[in-house]
Amino acid sequence: MLNDRIEKAIQTHICSGAVVTPAPSKLHKSIDYAVFPGGARIRPLILISVAMACGDDAPSVTDAAASALEMIHCASLVHDDLPCFDNSALRRGKATVHRAFGETTAVLAGDSLIVNAFSAVASQGSVAPHRVIDLVTYLAKYTGFPNGICAGQAWEDEATIDLGAYHLSKTGALFIAATQMGAIAAGHDPEPWQELGARIGQAFQIADDLLDVLSDTSDTGKPAGQDAKNGRPSAVTEYGVEGAQQLLRNVLGGAIASIPSCPGEAQLAKMVQMQSRRMMSAYQPHPNA
Ligand code: IPE
Ligand code: IPE
Ligand code: MG
Ligand code: MG
Repeated sequence: MLNDRIEKAIQTHICSGAVVTPAPSKLHKSIDYAVFPGGARIRPLILISVAMACGDDAPSVTDAAASALEMIHCASLVHDDLPCFDNSALRRGKATVHRAFGETTAVLAGDSLIVNAFSAVASQGSVAPHRVIDLVTYLAKYTGFPNGICAGQAWEDEATIDLGAYHLSKTGALFIAATQMGAIAAGHDPEPWQELGARIGQAFQIADDLLDVLSDTSDTGKPAGQDAKNGRPSAVTEYGVEGAQQLLRNVLGGAIASIPSCPGEAQLAKMVQMQSRRMMSAYQPHPNA
C-alpha cells in the first residue's frame, strides 16, 4: 500500500540519520508532533504515483524525495499557523505546534523540517547523483523565493494581491514539485509534468477556500472562517461560492488530459480522477450554509 510506503519513508528520513544525544528533546518532540499523525499526505502520494507511472527504477530516491516534500509541507503549516501569520489554534484536530510547544520551538521545528528535507534528498547522492542535484534544485525552487511558498506567504504582506500568483506560489508550488520531483526521481524529464501539478494545486487551494466558508472544524480539523478573519483574498471572495465551484470544475476538467505520456499513464489517470472526485465532493455546500 502506498500509505505504508509513505509513512515508512517519512519515519526513515525525518531526522536525517540517527539523533545523537544529547539533543533538545522538546524540539525533537515538536518535530514529530508536526508530522505525525499526518493529514492526507496528498503531496507524497502524487510524487510516488508519478514516479511509479515513470517506472520508479530508484525507489529509495523516490522515497527520500516524497519524505522531503511532506516535511516542507508540514513545516509550512507550522509556520502558517504562527501568530504572525494566520494565528491558528487548531491543525489536524489538535493544538497547533506553537500552542502545544510555544512559539520559539514552533519556529525552530519548521526551520528544522525545512533543512532536514534537503538532507533527506542529499542522502541519496551516491545512488543517483544527477537526479539528486535536480531534486534539490526543484525542491528549493518551490520552497523559496521568487516561485515558492515563501513568496506565496509574502503576498499577504503586499498592498494589492494577485490571487492567481498568490495561489500558485503558496499552494500550487508544492503540487508542481510533487509531479516534477516524481518524474525526476524516476529519471524522466520534469518539464512536461508542470501543468498537471499546477492544475491539481490550483484546484486544491480553491477547494480549501471553499472549505473555509462551507465546512466546520469537525470536517477539516482546523478552524473555519479563517480567511475572512485574517482578511485573506480567496477564490470565494473573488468569485463567490458558485463561481469558485465552477472554476474548480474547470481546472480539474483539464487535469487528466495534461498527464504526459508515460508507461503508467492509465493507472495515474485513475489516481488523478480519484483525487479530483474527493476535492469536488468534499467541497459541496454544507446543508446549513
Ligand atoms: C493544507 O494542506 C494547506 C493548504 C495548502 C490548503 P493539506 O490539506 O494538504 O493539509 P494536511 O497535510 O492534509 O493536513
Ligand atoms: C495554505 O494556506 C498554504 C500554506 C503555505 C500553508 P492557508 O492558510 O489557506 O492554509 P490553511 O487553511 O491554514 O490550511
Ligand atoms: Mg495562510
Ligand atoms: Mg492558514
